[in-house]
Order: sequence, then structure tokens, then C-alpha cells
Amino acid sequence: MLTPVLPEAHTNDAVLHDHAELDIGLRARQACISPKFLYDTLGSRLFEAICELPEYYPTRTEAGIFDSFGGEIARTVGPGSTLIDLGAGNCAKAASLFPLLQPAQYVPVDISAEFLQDAVARLRQRFHHIEMNAVGMDFSSAGWSLPDTVRAERRLFFYPGSSIGNFTPHEAREFLQRVHAQCGPDGGILIGIDLAKEAAVLDAAYDDALGVTGAFNLNILRHVNRLLGSDFDVCQWAHRGFYNEREGRVEMHLEAKRAQRVTWPGGERSFQAGEWIHTENSYKYRQSDAVGLLEQAGFAATRVWTDPRNWFAVIHARAMFH
Ligand code: TRP
Repeated sequence: MLTPVLPEAHTNDAVLHDHAELDIGLRARQACISPKFLYDTLGSRLFEAICELPEYYPTRTEAGIFDSFGGEIARTVGPGSTLIDLGAGNCAKAASLFPLLQPAQYVPVDISAEFLQDAVARLRQRFHHIEMNAVGMDFSSAGWSLPDTVRAERRLFFYPGSSIGNFTPHEAREFLQRVHAQCGPDGGILIGIDLAKEAAVLDAAYDDALGVTGAFNLNILRHVNRLLGSDFDVCQWAHRGFYNEREGRVEMHLEAKRAQRVTWPGGERSFQAGEWIHTENSYKYRQSDAVGLLEQAGFAATRVWTDPRNWFAVIHARAMFH
């Protein structure tokens, strides 16, 4: 009998849920592993390394847009907002904008509130005039809502890094509708969206020369081995990351180098040579489609800022109610 080792701050329920989700994904005809499992401790560090790569332009390009247009963005948004940071992580991105945006309240949201506590404690020292309220919540699943501790006035949802691209367009619309419903009449969204571009640029960004992206994608198998008790041999898999122009998305897969069988407590799966496990999609939008998506969700009065190459867009939109 194999007893799973419970990571701290994980309830037994969460472990069982991860186990069931991984089991279902690996048994599916087209095998898949949820991208959320990319981010264990090593995975998070590898993603930080990806952001330093010359090929991975999104993080740098978005930061450049805030550098160039920060003043204008701040005037559009106005001071005194309730800044709700979706997927806050270490809170660094939002914190770098505090002097510009001057929010009255800061609400970092991420899967684990515990993880946010350290970052928030440090930020409180530096910005004591901003009220801070960390929220632990999975906003990627349907039906989420903010607790009453979050001010209802002037809500500004901050969703940078083109994380919206990791939803399908249908999911993205539902997600934005949910954000809209939580906005209140004077609310809005400040969102970063990666734009469609030349395939060669995207292919390089998601399959870099040093192989850091490959290591990041392959590391998911080690994480799965720990969570599920599976016996994936990482050496038997290869990273595939490329732009699928027809679907308008970058696809990330792991490809079996040869035929093999993988087993875990309560399950097993045979893979043929060349068979794929899907790990993530990253949709790229045309600027007009990004604005259209926001409008379909009930936002209007959009303002768009881009970089000189038109690779990335930072968009502010106001919530409209009829
Ligand atoms: N959310 C990031 C993106 O879409 C994640 C990412 C970057 C990623 N490179 C990757 C995910 C490689 C899987 C594999 O840009």
C-alpha cells in the first residue's frame, strides 16, 4: 500500500483531487497534463529563467510598454483604485506599478494565500498607506467570487503576462464575463495580451536554443511522478513547442522518443513512439480580436498600448452595465 506524502498546506482532499485529475488526463485518448503542474519549486525557477531568455519576448515587451506609457496608463486608470492582481505570485509586477497607479487597496489573488503572505508582509513595510488583502482562490475555475473584504469601489482587475492566452477563446470569454460581473459600475480591467506574429518568432520563444523551455516542460513529468507515484523516465521524452497558425496558438507537448509503458498506483498507459502528451496552449490574438473579446464580455472604452514591433498589447477597458 502506497501512502502519498502530504505536502504541507495541502489537505488530503487536494492530493486526491490532483491524483484523480492526473489519472484522467493520462488515460485520455489524447493524453494531457494540466499546465498548473508545471509550477513546482523547480518549475517556477525555470519559468523565471525563461523570462530572461533573449527568445522569450513577452515578459520583457510587456515591461517595456509599462515603462514607455506608465504615465498615460496611470492617468487612464486614475488613483485610488482597488487593485485586484489575478495570479499575483510574488506580487513583484503589480508592486512595481504602485507608485504609478497609486491604488487604495491591493488584493493579490493566487491559488495559495499562504504563498502570498510573505510577499504581502514585505510590501506592507514599503507601502503602509495601501491596504492589503491577500486572497487564496482558484479563479481559473467557473463561479469564483471575491470575499467581502475587497472594496466594491473602483475595482481594477490586473491580469498581465498574457495568461489569458492559456485559456481557449471560449474559456477566455467566460473568464472575462466573470471578471466583468465582479467589477461594479466604476470597475475595469488592465490586461496584457500577446499578439499574433511571425511563426519563427513564436517558435523560438517556445523552443529556445539553450533548451531552458524544454527543461521547464519536461520537469512536469518529475512533478507528476511525485504527485501521482508514476514512473515517467524523463530521458524518454522530448519537448515540442511550436506555433499552430491555423488555430492561432502555440502548442506545448511532450513527445515519446520510443514506445514505452508508464505505470502509477491504480493505473497504467502505453505510449507509442512519437505519441504526444499535451501540456499547454498559448493563444495569440490580433489586436482587434483582443478588443472584441473584451467587448463581448461587457467591457468598452478600451485603450490599447503596444510596443514598436506590435508584438504585445496592454489594454485598459471599463466595465459597462446596461
Ligand atoms: N504561460 C506561459 C506562456 O504561455 C507559459 C510557457 C512559456 C510555457 N513557455 C512554455 C508552458 C513552455 C509550457 C511550455 O507563454
